[in-house]
Amino acid sequence: MQEIKSVQDLEVQGKRVLLRTDFNVPVKEGKVVDDARIQAALPTIKLLLERGAAKIIVLTHLGRPEGKAEDALRVAPVLARLRELVDSSNIEMLENLRFDAREDANDQSFAQELAAQGDVYINDAFANSHRAHASMVLLPTLLPSAAGLGLLNEVEHLQSALVPPKGALAVIGGAKFETKIPLFTKLMGVYGELLLGGALANDMLKARGYPVGGSVVSNQPVPPLLAEDERIKLPTDLIVGDVEQKAERSTLVNDIRVNERAVDIGPLTALAWAKKITEAPFVLWNGPMGVYEDGFIDGTLLLAKALVEGKAKAVVGGGDTAAALSSMKFDPERIFVSTGGGAMLQFLADGTLPAIEALKN
Ligand code: 3PG
Repeated sequence: MQEIKSVQDLEVQGKRVLLRTDFNVPVKEGKVVDDARIQAALPTIKLLLERGAAKIIVLTHLGRPEGKAEDALRVAPVLARLRELVDSSNIEMLENLRFDAREDANDQSFAQELAAQGDVYINDAFANSHRAHASMVLLPTLLPSAAGLGLLNEVEHLQSALVPPKGALAVIGGAKFETKIPLFTKLMGVYGELLLGGALANDMLKARGYPVGGSVVSNQPVPPLLAEDERIKLPTDLIVGDVEQKAERSTLVNDIRVNERAVDIGPLTALAWAKKITEAPFVLWNGPMGVYEDGFIDGTLLLAKALVEGKAKAVVGGGDTAAALSSMKFDPERIFVSTGGGAMLQFLADGTLPAIEALKN
């Protein structure tokens, strides 16, 4: 990849720095409940302060307000948390960029208005770098620009995940098979084995002739090359619920009934996959194994435990997967947790992202 300029190489002394972050963090009752994305930007913020930036103007979006101001999506709680972590009067934060419809619309006039408030621009918002929005792709063309340390760190780890060692294992969960076909094709070019969980496994089970009952499946067929690839492993058993996701039982995959839907990988699969994770030299993992938001988290937690207790180097991402790991103690030098969900998957599929490309101009 063509080199992108680092914040380390940008003159910031006495300058007003527009720092685009992805502080799209969960907020409950006016408090940030997971500050991992704020923490990830601290090295850049500290560096800018050390190097004498006159002012750091933090830009972020929060949620999807679609161009309208919404009290629940104001950035005040995010700024309050940032101030608890960094004590400096030189930091400001603009209101949620997505309150202005021109942000998502990638509008030049919005980028120009933002540019007028700073002298230089830093992108430390890896998790939003797949979005071609005004503050991500236009703003860096209007000011001297560079990548923040968090963004560079993400790129370095994800690039390494694209040239894994022999015997490396990919674990992908979540939903929307149709959006992940380029990713699977890419991964099968470099990974020895791919374990497929979550709703993604339903599509593949169906394509391989298994009954899937009322499980969530996408409406696009699985390309035959993927369906036939024996290196893509599927669960051998599942936790299934009735269509209201009650009355759970575990069953072998060939015995799911019409009124049932898969909600997690089963115990046999979880144990077998945990063993593979323990034995692999490198693990790439994105996405939960079950319907995480409805509390079907056991399969995901068991795999996370195997990863934490094992020795494999790993790159992990996606909100639910990161949440499963965050409840455990692990060495961040061995297990890198990406701040990105969609951005991580798109980077793996394409080797770059629109906002990273914009930094090269
Ligand atoms: C994310 O949380 O993945 C990023 O902040 C992007 O948010 P979006 O999916 O609402 O564009």
